[in-house]
Amino acid sequence: MTLSTDHPVEATGDPEDVSTNPTTARPLMAVAEARLSRRGVLAGGFLAAAGFLTAGLIDPPAAAARPGGGGGGGGGGGHQGGRIGFQAIGPSTLDEVVVAPGYTARPFIPWGTPILGSFPAFVPGTPGEPGGVATGNTAAQQAEQIGMHHDGMTYFPLHDGPRGNESGLLVLNQEYTDEFYLHTARYPGTADAAAAYRPSTAEGVRKSQNAHGVSVVEVRRRGNGQWELVRSARNRRITANTPMSFSGPAAGHRLVRTAADRQGRTPLGTFNNCANGETPWGTYLTCEENFNGYFRVDGTLDAESAGLATRYGVGGDRNGWAVHDARFRVTPQDPNEPNRHGWVVEIDPFDPRSTPVKRTALGRLKHEDATVHVSRGGRVVVYMGDDQVNEFVYKFVSARNWQSMRAQGRSPLDEGTLYVARFNEDGSGDWLPLVHGQGPLTAANGFADQGDVLVKTRLAATALGATPMDRPEWTAVDPRTGTVFVTLTNNTSSAKVENRANPRKPNPWGHIVRWDEQGGDHTGTRFAWDLFLLAGPGGGVDGSTIAAEDAFGSPDGLWIDPDSRAWIQTDGTQPNRANNQMLVADAAARWDAEPEVRRFLTGVVGCEVTGIASTPDRRTLFVNLQHPGENGGSTWPRLDGITTPRSATVVITKDDGGVIGS
Ligand code: FEO
Ligand code: CA
Ligand code: CA
Repeated sequence: MTLSTDHPVEATGDPEDVSTNPTTARPLMAVAEARLSRRGVLAGGFLAAAGFLTAGLIDPPAAAARPGGGGGGGGGGGHQGGRIGFQAIGPSTLDEVVVAPGYTARPFIPWGTPILGSFPAFVPGTPGEPGGVATGNTAAQQAEQIGMHHDGMTYFPLHDGPRGNESGLLVLNQEYTDEFYLHTARYPGTADAAAAYRPSTAEGVRKSQNAHGVSVVEVRRRGNGQWELVRSARNRRITANTPMSFSGPAAGHRLVRTAADRQGRTPLGTFNNCANGETPWGTYLTCEENFNGYFRVDGTLDAESAGLATRYGVGGDRNGWAVHDARFRVTPQDPNEPNRHGWVVEIDPFDPRSTPVKRTALGRLKHEDATVHVSRGGRVVVYMGDDQVNEFVYKFVSARNWQSMRAQGRSPLDEGTLYVARFNEDGSGDWLPLVHGQGPLTAANGFADQGDVLVKTRLAATALGATPMDRPEWTAVDPRTGTVFVTLTNNTSSAKVENRANPRKPNPWGHIVRWDEQGGDHTGTRFAWDLFLLAGPGGGVDGSTIAAEDAFGSPDGLWIDPDSRAWIQTDGTQPNRANNQMLVADAAARWDAEPEVRRFLTGVVGCEVTGIASTPDRRTLFVNLQHPGENGGSTWPRLDGITTPRSATVVITKDDGGVIGS
């Protein structure tokens, strides 16, 4: 998520933009002495001034490398690649969704859509109740409605074969809340916006908690091609208070025990669920990202707890929950509740009575996403980003073939090895195992057992020498080639660590790194990496390696479809103050060429574009627009005469019924 500078919560700091990683940088000139891929930088950018070019290490800009040369903004006339079939659109500042010609986009299941129980209709807040919950829906009603701030999302077909393209479960994260829309219609920027930001009653806190979490809804395609919500017994809301369990090496660990759960086995709830993943056995993975900001630290913690609170940035009470819910007050007597968050949670969407499981083997960090890839031998590999300045990229590899493990009643997500990435200066990379007893991960260094390593994942990764990155967001694997990608959204922190994989300081626009695992073996420990693209205004400005007509910044959401189209979603300031957007790049571009990029969709005022899911036939694409009008200026999606801006899913179809993007 991005919280812009005039947002009330900014007073406590955007948690992703503050470095809590003390790792020291290698000097830039030392970096410049190492290998530079010819695509890594462009002549004329500020990298030249930083010494890369004078070092004589890179070729001149490869102007001819771009297919079709350039031009074509708004018409796509300059793009001639075969992989991307649609006409590019231009950037937008409109308060409406624009998609490529020949496609239709319809808003669907906005925040407040009734899905459960008494199916309470959405009631917008009204002015006059600062911080209260006297207006709008009640907390109990919110628990029966779609939550706020749609994010990562998966479509699970309910049938094998073609019927699965028309009937499925849509599972989506509800990342965070804009309390000023949740409780009242007071808009940010007005005099009382700050007062309206935090709920002032226990009921208000409960409503906020119920607007978080995950939604499961059955959806089906009607004969006219439009999609509708089904009032199904499978529909479910998971919130910040849903009972869960722990599994894996940190389950029951001393650092996850609390006064309310002395065994450390039954955590409560999930919140700030960013992106997602899905397993080959049909479950949904939801990722706990900026959990840290929901707590308040009362008193002086012991050294171990204080160290964890510092590295994970615990504190701030961003939503005011700590005032009315003691669970969010971290005290010397009961300091471990924050350690019960920051995990990947597995949910069985097909069983609404199932207990979500926090899979501790996947580590504890500000989990952006969890991309599952099945290796040749059937071991599952989960790629994950930790979204904060100077944090790391991880992967988990299951101990054995996932089918044989499940046949024995074991979870492939409980037993295996967690690794963190080191991007070497010469373009090679290493996966460093986070295994207790190996290297520095010993009791002498504060890691008494594997539970310690996992609860303190960030500290363990630093001890191993992982490479600090420019805010790792989504990972994706090209299913056709096996190449792995990660979006690095931006990094303007003065504490930013420069290295070859994160070469711009400051990096206001972000970039995308890709790598190939050695021998195509995703379970291995060696890889070769490259800079896929550097975002920005284009044409070499600020070192960006894209064309000016494809300008974008802050790549975040990412999916590679089976035809090697990389769907890139943005969350942050865009060149020329345009709205956030979704573009498609050629994921199979040669490593010595610039990938073709085309803009497919532009979002509405104030939103980010995030979350992407497809029917198996790829003829329906679901995309989320999150937090429209977070700073005012939007009334989207304007359904049923309601002008309160609401996060919603956008359902995209091709007018000729074809594959999206073809
Ligand atoms: Fe929730 Fe890093 O985006
Ligand atoms: Ca983001
Ligand atoms: Ca994100």
